[in-house]
Amino acid sequence: MSSFLTSSIGKKFFMSITGFFLMVFLVVHLGINLLLLFDDTGVLFNLGAHFMGTNPIIKIVEPVLALGLILHMLYASYLTITNMMARPVKYKKVNLRDSSTWASRNMFILGSLILIFLVLHIMNFYWKLKVTHTVPSVMVDGVEMENAYEMVAGLFKTSLVYNLLYIAGAIFLGLHLTHGFWSAFQTIGWSGDLWRSRLYLVAKIYAIIIAVGFSIIPLYFIIKF
Ligand code: HEM
Repeated sequence: MSSFLTSSIGKKFFMSITGFFLMVFLVVHLGINLLLLFDDTGVLFNLGAHFMGTNPIIKIVEPVLALGLILHMLYASYLTITNMMARPVKYKKVNLRDSSTWASRNMFILGSLILIFLVLHIMNFYWKLKVTHTVPSVMVDGVEMENAYEMVAGLFKTSLVYNLLYIAGAIFLGLHLTHGFWSAFQTIGWSGDLWRSRLYLVAKIYAIIIAVGFSIIPLYFIIKF
């Protein structure tokens, strides 16, 4: 097992599997967050957030996701450092621009920027909801729940800086995904010229949906409030 994980394909496989988890999570997370746009009273978003917070399946998936995220980051750091150590003298510069994208050459930098965003993001919301329990509650349809809408909308209505940081986070994430999504499928064996171009297109569409979807939310609050 350990020799598989240190083999070249094992390393990529591991990054792909943990990456897949995160890609599914993002679609679900975006779906719930978009409820913020359809009901300014907050009822819809509060119901969505409450469902996510109390559903037993989600409760099992959440720690798996957190573990996946941590392993994805640790492994990416390990791969980047071992690659740098294996090649202390840089290769003579060749023009890589023709054969690779900017995102594919800067996955570690993009991942690190996403991590900075994520730490900030967890402190903004998750920490208050799940750790310090400092979010006031509200009654929705006779059920008492945390007013997650007020917490999120409160931040986006009052801070342009945070709105811009969330848009930047969404753009970094989109760039990271343009390469990550495509590369994950390649690693599990979907390759060949036809599949390569199809997957590349699907990856681009997925990345654009995620980047635009997450950016629309702060933009909505900037424009409307
Ligand atoms: C407009 C953008 C976003 C909003 C409004 C938002 C909102 C939230 C909220 C309210 C929570 C706490 C949920 C709970 O614990 O019940 C949360 C958690 C989280 N968010 Fe976001 N989020 C946004 C963008 C992102 C992005 C771009 C990422 C990925 C880079 C992300 C990753 C996470 C993670 C990993 C958690 C902790 C796990 C969880 O609670 O499900 N979020 N987000």
